[in-house]
Amino acid sequence: MEVILAKHAGFCFGVKRATHLAFDAADKGGDTYTLGPIIHSPQVVQRLEEMGVKSVEDVAEIKNGSTVIIRSHGVAAEELEAAVRADLAIVDATCPFVKKAQEHVATLSREGYDVVVVGDAVHPEVQGIVSYATGRVYVVSSGKDVERLPRMAKMGVVAQTTQSFEHLNEVVAACLARGGETRVYNTICDATAVRQEETKKLAGEVDCMIVIGGFNSANTRRLAQICRELLPRTHHIETAGQIDPAWFDGVQRVGVTAGASTPKWLIDEVTERISAIDRDKIG
Ligand code: F3S
Repeated sequence: MEVILAKHAGFCFGVKRATHLAFDAADKGGDTYTLGPIIHSPQVVQRLEEMGVKSVEDVAEIKNGSTVIIRSHGVAAEELEAAVRADLAIVDATCPFVKKAQEHVATLSREGYDVVVVGDAVHPEVQGIVSYATGRVYVVSSGKDVERLPRMAKMGVVAQTTQSFEHLNEVVAACLARGGETRVYNTICDATAVRQEETKKLAGEVDCMIVIGGFNSANTRRLAQICRELLPRTHHIETAGQIDPAWFDGVQRVGVTAGASTPKWLIDEVTERISAIDRDKIG
């Protein structure tokens, strides 16, 4: 059985950076916390917990003088200010692409623009981005949503980093159709699109797909959904222990991909387990 691993499977740049910063902070010891899970990987969160890093929901739960690590998709401006007030040592692991989106929102507000954020209103990244507006700010998920917004003389558009370009385009077209001045910042990061394109291609070339990543990771779930549409023999797992050898009955080629928050060690465990199952079958 041939096992083909997608070239960009696993950590994106921002998650890799956040994870390094978190493990470095954990190595230094002392009371260390993250505000919410550092990334959407229960296994990484558990490893950090084993090293004494606690995940809390609120700055108020953190002892003064401790270290707080800011997760890759950022936190709200007020939370960051609360951390500064509480005299915490801050390790800011916000992905630089998310940071850029936050900064654009702050600038737009300062310069008198009403801000339109293209994204999912309940996603923590979007809630963080929105918090940097000091004036009016709206979250939309489609061109139709734009039609329902109040009149705006100056509109500034930014996107959640994981949005598709088509989606941003649709919202921008709807903003332009309303008239007024429109300033657009393309804050989309292509890590998601690259993984999705690559996964789609791979799913078309194999008999079975294994998608690795947190069940709470939206980008991993989306990869599994893309695969399943092309190949019903798709399995979304978090760890190698969840693999059922029967999945590979009659399979010649198996494709493996992983979400942007899946660490390399989990990917390695999965490919090793598949190879071991294959060896057992032959032997
Ligand atoms: Fe950053 Fe893009 Fe990853 S925004 S966290 S590099 S998906």
